[in-house]
Amino acid sequence: MTDTNTSERSLVLIKPDGFRRGLTGEVIRRIEAKGYTLAALAIVTPTREQLAAHYAEHEGKPFYEPLLDFMSSGPVTAAVIEGQECIRGFRSLAGATKPTDAAPGTIRGDLGRKWAGTVDENIVHGSDSPESAEREIGIWFPEL
Ligand code: RTP
Ligand code: MG
Repeated sequence: MTDTNTSERSLVLIKPDGFRRGLTGEVIRRIEAKGYTLAALAIVTPTREQLAAHYAEHEGKPFYEPLLDFMSSGPVTAAVIEGQECIRGFRSLAGATKPTDAAPGTIRGDLGRKWAGTVDENIVHGSDSPESAEREIGIWFPEL
């Protein structure tokens, strides 16, 4: 079973909370069980510059600085996943942004919860459009 050239790519991050809690394997298991393939995988300790580029759309929002602090608090696993409609499909696997609201069965609903602090620690990031995906892949995997 191979994907044709209409296949999509998405940038997935297992955020520092997910990495610390040992959930990298579980998230990757769900991605593969869904049928998407891995095109790239790396453990990265993000720089402030990388995070500022990645989260440029959120600059100036009240959660921006706490978000950068959280995201730079430890290693993340970055992945490029592939498959038709995987951008929408992965966001559906991830669930709602706030783990308290995320439906059971989703990554954030099954594995996440609200912790003390301003920012929502929610285990994963997934690109939200083909344009974001290509931009984000360039930040985390400049060689691709
Ligand atoms: P992501 O970009 O990480 O896949 O998540 P998302 O699209 O569901 O959420 P987005 O609105 O892009 O926000 C990016 C990340 O910032 C944190 N956040 N905290 N406390 C808050 O109100 C708040 N809002 C956003 C979350 O970690 C969110 O995933
Ligand atoms: Mg987002």
